[in-house]
Amino acid sequence: MKEIKKIIECKSVVEKLRKKGYKIGFVPTMGSLHDGHLNLIRMAGRECDCVIMSIFLNPTQFGPGEDLGKYPRNFRKDCIKAKNEGVDYMFHPGVEEMYPPGHRTWVEVGGLSSIMCGRFRPGHFKGVATVVLKLLDIINPDNAYFGEKDYQQMVIVRRMVKDLNLGVKIISCPTVREEDGLAMSSRNKYLSKEERKEAVILYRCLNMADSMIVEGEKNLKKIKDKLKGELKDNKFVKKVDYFDFRDPLTLEKKNRVRSGDKEVLAAAAAWIGNTRLIDNVIIKL
Ligand code: PAF
Repeated sequence: MKEIKKIIECKSVVEKLRKKGYKIGFVPTMGSLHDGHLNLIRMAGRECDCVIMSIFLNPTQFGPGEDLGKYPRNFRKDCIKAKNEGVDYMFHPGVEEMYPPGHRTWVEVGGLSSIMCGRFRPGHFKGVATVVLKLLDIINPDNAYFGEKDYQQMVIVRRMVKDLNLGVKIISCPTVREEDGLAMSSRNKYLSKEERKEAVILYRCLNMADSMIVEGEKNLKKIKDKLKGELKDNKFVKKVDYFDFRDPLTLEKKNRVRSGDKEVLAAAAAWIGNTRLIDNVIIKL
């Protein structure tokens, strides 16, 4: 696996790969790799001739007071994992390389960026969309792989790719879970032993929503109130940011299941102690 730090070098490597006619798969990450990321690499490896991963802890998607400073950094360990899974190139630019002095251009995906997590993390998706666009421009992949755990991010990236006529295919990969069902996340490392045990409550509530809908409850507001209450009653849950039902394609809010609906997204964000966790499930009707 070759490590690349400079944009100019990355572009020249990509040009050579393109000349050889290789299909390029790209896995963007912020590092602290877990099985969810490794699954993205495996998928890219199956579908493409060459896999490029990026590890860039993007400061612009963290708000003031968020966890940028303590976000787990494990570049050497990450490289070993990536290499073992068959990553061919690791793009690992510094902050100045991605945001040189004088940087002024931002990407805003209107509407989708201010709902759900965007309500509680203003500016977050502007930072995500901007860095993803820059990375897609540098790496120019055929396919780019995103985990469904960050469902809103995936929808926003798809929208941006469509609106800007980018020639990349966005492939989404199912959330990888721990044995008890907790969605894998780099932030799970922040949880204490007791918090970790209780954190699965988020997934449990999403599954309860699934059961209630499948059993015929159509009033989503009623389900939401009940499950938000369930979460709030748990002594390890400090705050529930949202528990929402949404259209899986447009993220439009849904208060009722309508005849003709095929799928509903249930998504939630809650604080387990000082750690903000997100999760979602697609409910098939
Ligand atoms: O999902 C992530 O790890 C990040 O948001 C991404 C897509 C790598 C952009 O920094």
